Amino acid sequence: MIPGKITATDIRGLKNLRRIPALTAYDFPTAKLLDDAGIPLILVGDSVGMVVLGYPDTTHVTLAEMEHHLRAVARAQPRALLAADMPFQSYQTPAQAVDSARRLVAAGAEAVKAEGGRDILPQVRAILAAGIPFLGHLGMLPQHVLEEKGYHVKGKSEPEKAGLIADAKALAAAGAFAVVLELVTPPVARAITQAISIPTIGIGAGPDCDGEILVVTDLLGTSAGDVPRHVKKSWALAKQMRAAIVEWKETVAGATTKP
Ligand code: KIV
Repeated sequence: MIPGKITATDIRGLKNLRRIPALTAYDFPTAKLLDDAGIPLILVGDSVGMVVLGYPDTTHVTLAEMEHHLRAVARAQPRALLAADMPFQSYQTPAQAVDSARRLVAAGAEAVKAEGGRDILPQVRAILAAGIPFLGHLGMLPQHVLEEKGYHVKGKSEPEKAGLIADAKALAAAGAFAVVLELVTPPVARAITQAISIPTIGIGAGPDCDGEILVVTDLLGTSAGDVPRHVKKSWALAKQMRAAIVEWKETVAGATTKP
């Protein structure tokens, strides 16, 4: 047993007590770094598809790829709660959702996350009935990027706002321990946060959620693409990494070869 291990119940209990900083990780050394820094919730996100695997979006990520990265992160034995994304089309029915969630648990996940609200409620209930803690994900749902033709801010109209609040209430009532709100307008994120008894963890959803989550490479500045607008400070570490590589290359290239 890992001393001070954080559980889904602990994360749930942080509502109105302390804000929750959460980050993604896809490999062993990053998981170690996050855990040493005291991050209480680590997500092996399906953002691994774009960040690490070079896919154009998350719809290409397979369960086997998630298991592979999850195992690497789990080997760090973090004190943090370790959650994992259920990839695209891995939770189309309750039975499939339970099978997929069990595979992720066998690879080291202590909780799973899937995108959707009332539309996936039978799957969420089945996962919870199997004893697996569930993290919701509402707002902009990256796995819907193809059908929605892009990534759009959610909660701009009254029906969208009402739908999001109903989804969040349904997930909380089903037993989710927290819910991620991605690209939700700040007033709607605030309204959801006030309307439910479980923590909201925002990403591009304003300052009033109970916690915040970022893709770790966006924070560190090592993502290959542009840094999203919601990242207030990116550390531009890629520049330093490049400088280290160029300096080393030049020491090697500049040295004379011994005959
Ligand atoms: O896949 C991911 O990294 C995520 C977070 C951005 C919430 O779902």
